[in-house]
Amino acid sequence: MDIFEVVASRYSCRAFLPTPIPEHAVRDIVERASRAPSAGNLQPWRVYAIAGQRVAELKALLAPRMNELPKGEGGDYRIFPDPIEEPFRTRRFHVGELLYHSIDVPRADKPARYRQYARNFQFFGAPVGLFFALPRAHGVAQWADLGGLLQTVMLLARGYGLHTCPQQAWVSWHRTVRTFLNLPDELMIYSGMALGHADESAAINAWRSPREPFDAFASFEGFEG
Ligand SMILES: Cc1cc2nc3c(=O)[nH]c(=O)nc-3n(C[C@H](O)[C@H](O)[C@H](O)COP(=O)(O)O)c2cc1C
Repeated sequence: MDIFEVVASRYSCRAFLPTPIPEHAVRDIVERASRAPSAGNLQPWRVYAIAGQRVAELKALLAPRMNELPKGEGGDYRIFPDPIEEPFRTRRFHVGELLYHSIDVPRADKPARYRQYARNFQFFGAPVGLFFALPRAHGVAQWADLGGLLQTVMLLARGYGLHTCPQQAWVSWHRTVRTFLNLPDELMIYSGMALGHADESAAINAWRSPREPFDAFASFEGFEG
């Protein structure tokens, strides 16, 4: 697969096969991903990978708590601007519509939407869960560095024929995850990520999120030829 195919074939996969992923493959992906650049080469990231029994334990920990606290423990940081203004509000709304439409869940069916959202905390069935953390004291530049690391992991996963879903949803359970991973106080979780083989037969994997047309986000000047 060439780099263009790698980029084009990545999407947020939300249904995985249970097929286990060998530890060496996950290690290789994470180690290679550390070639991602970071301002001043701070490499502000910490990556936690769990599989097998550890994934089962985390799922079992959360399943009953989802009923007690449907919205989780409250985020450790604000994921979206509040209020979220146009055009971002509509883009977010639209991608949600596409997702729920793909699994025949009408907007009004809140319990069914919640059931789908709750699948985040099952890693959408993936055999491997990743968590990405950075020092709490760090700023926007380091958060951007973490984004670069996540994307590099997601692209390298394609090299193994694997798919991913980045999951900031886990931030709503940051206290539980922190305790579970034994995260030091000075670190905070930026995002989780599901990793595994896509269930190609799942309807939720059969649609793709749209993008704005090129001219809406890019300005070019001074090119010759
Ligand atoms: C940092 C980050 C966190 C995300 N968190 C979640 C999440 O918790 N659950 C989810 O289903 N999708 C999550 N997404 C996926 C986005 O919804 C998705 O990237 C966007 O709609 C574009 O679709 P695509 O990734 O399929 O191209 C996240 C994406 C990013 C970059």
